[in-house]
Amino acid sequence: MDIAVIGTGYVGLVTGAGLADFGNDVICVDIDVKKIEALRRGEIPIYEPGLGKLVSKNVEEKRLSFTTDLQTAIRGARAIFIAVGTPPKADGSADLRYVEEVARSIAKEMNGPKLIVTKSTVPIGTGRLIEKILKESGTPHKGSVVSNPEFLREGLAIEDFMKPDRVVIGASDPEAAALMKEIYAPLHSLETPFVVTNVESSELIKYASNGFLATKITFINEIAQVCEKVGANVHDVAVGMGLDSRIGPKFLQAGPGFGGSCFPKDTSAMADISKKYGYEFQIMEAVLRVNDDIKQRMVTKIIEAGGGSVKGKTIAILGLAFKPETDDMRDSPTIPIIKGLQKAGASVRAFDPQAVENSKSIFENVTYCVDAYQAAEGADILVIATEWNEFRALNLGRIRKALRQPVVVDLRNVYDPQRMKSEGFNYTSVGRAS
Ligand code: UGA
Repeated sequence: MDIAVIGTGYVGLVTGAGLADFGNDVICVDIDVKKIEALRRGEIPIYEPGLGKLVSKNVEEKRLSFTTDLQTAIRGARAIFIAVGTPPKADGSADLRYVEEVARSIAKEMNGPKLIVTKSTVPIGTGRLIEKILKESGTPHKGSVVSNPEFLREGLAIEDFMKPDRVVIGASDPEAAALMKEIYAPLHSLETPFVVTNVESSELIKYASNGFLATKITFINEIAQVCEKVGANVHDVAVGMGLDSRIGPKFLQAGPGFGGSCFPKDTSAMADISKKYGYEFQIMEAVLRVNDDIKQRMVTKIIEAGGGSVKGKTIAILGLAFKPETDDMRDSPTIPIIKGLQKAGASVRAFDPQAVENSKSIFENVTYCVDAYQAAEGADILVIATEWNEFRALNLGRIRKALRQPVVVDLRNVYDPQRMKSEGFNYTSVGRAS
């Protein structure tokens, strides 16, 4: 099928490359000329394992191309995937300006029947809004609006695209649903479940999924607080809970709170959408509050590890990105943590395998290092903030020698407390006895 994907951000680029790999002819469109030129040269603007390879393979095999010419792309496509940004406004609601602009362009350029698919996470009612824009334009052509949310995890996006747990299709007519199934044809042989429903349900499935996962993480983060008070071990509690098949073991890793470009934005939008429809989503509001709180608790934890004050002390932070395998700093828990420590009078040295460049515009007065050992050099406290694999296998002897004080605060529970003790560290983690 001829497909245009509009917006070559994270979602658009992975979707474009993935759909091309499924055998469709895909043209990716962006208004950013520099970005399109770079993509044409084979340069990938984000760090996502496997994406570069997938893009170049499909470009070489002539199923994937890039353009800034929106008009031609729309006219040539049977299906148009909207993957433009929906940034949060000051009040937490999603800004639909770009989605609306694209919908108006599609309405203007319609030259035959089109499938118009929302791939960006959009508030409930956006599908209807696009339908209204098409109708008001007076176009004689049929535009079928479909919601097809993505469930990609950064760092694992290619795997998630190629082997999804499910494909959700919200369509208002059966022909549109059938065309969507055609686009995703290779997934049928993998027996991927397809959930076909109306547009509103599909839009809500996305928010409900992210809201639930964020709640699950927040739940275990609160359990971790209780563990610290009663002398329990959050890892064992999570294992014990997770073995109940109704609960499941995933997303029960306690840490410094969830971050990234999705959970914070989507939980806040979920609360906001409910409010707009006259319902106060109390769990979602609580999740947002607790998640903010957790980060401040992490600052307190580090200060306590420093003996009650970090004034004049040097703190080494290992990991800046909101999770491993990404350079994404959006809503990373390290932002309030580092700023909180600096406010308490600490100097910060930091290392991250990918996110240093993106951190530079966020922090002031942070010394960036080339590896974990350089970061540890002369520091009073070492904080493991993101669980990159390379931090799981540190040469602990070297780290201890580099540190001024053998104090480690592990916000991701990467190390075993007993082992750290026997290696001579004063070790603190999350929800586990020191
Ligand atoms: C998340 C969802 O997992 C995807 O399904 C969804 O498509 C995506 O949002 C989106 O809406 O686009 P992502 O933001 O890439 O994906 O990251 P996750 O791996 O879900 O992690 C989110 C945050 O939760 C991270 O800060 C991570 O450290 C934290 N987390 C995750 C925990 O603290 N504990 C856990 O057990 C799991």
